[in-house]
Amino acid sequence: MDDTALTPGFWIERWQKGEIGFHQPEGNDLLVTHWPSLGAAPGSTVFVPLCGKSRDMVWLASQGHRVIGVELSPLAVDDFFREQGIEADTNARGAFVVRSAGPISIWCGDVFELPAEVTREVGAVYDRAALVAFPHSLQVRYARRLMEIIPAAAPMLLVSLAYPVGQIPGPPFSTPLMNVAELFAETYDIDVLESRDGLAASPGLKARGVTSLEETAYVLRAKAG
Ligand SMILES: C[S@@+](CC[C@H](N)C(=O)[O-])C[C@H]1O[C@@H](n2cnc3c(N)ncnc32)[C@H](O)[C@@H]1O
Repeated sequence: MDDTALTPGFWIERWQKGEIGFHQPEGNDLLVTHWPSLGAAPGSTVFVPLCGKSRDMVWLASQGHRVIGVELSPLAVDDFFREQGIEADTNARGAFVVRSAGPISIWCGDVFELPAEVTREVGAVYDRAALVAFPHSLQVRYARRLMEIIPAAAPMLLVSLAYPVGQIPGPPFSTPLMNVAELFAETYDIDVLESRDGLAASPGLKARGVTSLEETAYVLRAKAG
């Protein structure tokens, strides 16, 4: 594992160098297909951890949700609002800079430092390329933190990746069902919504040496009782 992937500086530099092969200009189709099955209440707030400049936030807002993103790179946050042609207000909130426009607010800073009150009203979570951005030790911390700060009743749509162990140093870090279960199964029931071959749509990972790639959408819901 590449230890630099553990540091915020790694991501800040990737955005500065424009090394953002993970970004999907058109948004993620698994979100559009599977979001309705979560049954998130109309008008509820969706938390989007490690949001980058994802267009998925615009799609979620178009469904009537409020959106709270959190992202380390100020460049990503600036790009998001500029590319979407949205004027955003800017406010300092402790260690964070919050950029907000209409239903979308992005907290710029470290997800591990996000105050719990920010997500108190969250009704659902959307994680695409967030969990897999972390090496295992940080995945454990991230999953614990999510479970601490997200209301128990909020379902999560998780889009994860899995490839043969050791083929590339992450990120993304291969995170098959076994790992998802290890991280979340104590608290959530985990259901696979769709699993598909993702290699053709990931030329960057193919070029790095990945020979097979499974992209899976999961729904996580709090266990009854
Ligand atoms: C693989 S990208 C995924 C971005 C987005 N979810 C998407 O689908 O395009 C991971 C993002 O997480 C951000 N990030 C990494 N560590 C973070 C942290 N500790 N707190 C907040 N954001 C972080 C990175 O800057 C990067 O934009």
